Amino acid sequence: MYVAVEGIDTAGKSTQIGELSKYYSERAVFTKEPGGTPTGAEIREIVLRGEMKSQKAEFLLFLADRAEHMEEIIKPNIDKLIVSDRSVVSGVAYALSQNTINETAILHLNRFATDGIYPDKVFLLELTRTELRFRLSQKELDGIELRGEDYLLGIQDALKKACELLKIELICIDAAQEREDITAQIIKHIEGKK
Ligand code: TMP
Repeated sequence: MYVAVEGIDTAGKSTQIGELSKYYSERAVFTKEPGGTPTGAEIREIVLRGEMKSQKAEFLLFLADRAEHMEEIIKPNIDKLIVSDRSVVSGVAYALSQNTINETAILHLNRFATDGIYPDKVFLLELTRTELRFRLSQKELDGIELRGEDYLLGIQDALKKACELLKIELICIDAAQEREDITAQIIKHIEGKK
């Protein structure tokens, strides 16, 4: 089974990936997008530096990372449990939010990059506006977080829309819950005990 954890900044994605990795240890393959392969790590550095002028070029680099990740990590391990920090769902959601490339092209190009292999389930760590506001007030903000509450909630909506467009099973989890309760819910879903 191939699953992905998605969520906006401050939703607790890295914490949950860490907890799942402790729980599953060698019994699952842990990976991420962008940057899950050696080439992908170089691409990640370029795109996250934020110096690119062309949004199309940036989008194509995310796709290059995704295609390499598919060949190197997903396809060879498809019979195992794969847990990915982000996926094609982020790819589609962030591109939709930019309004530069039309929806049909975004979907076609992502299908091309992945050969149509998508996560079986996506866990969205979901924040309410109030909880997001509280979390942002508690920390020093980075570039993306400085774009504010509305921007981040727009991305969260786009993550849901991306699952709908890609026809991927979406499991929304209230990110304000205790860390261990969230982990337990994800494990239950992975193991088919709803
Ligand atoms: P993170 O993996 O550390 O969360 O950061 C990755 C950043 O890249 C995050 O802001 C989301 C963004 N992103 C895209 O814009 N397009 C993509 O296809 C992916 C996978 C991520």
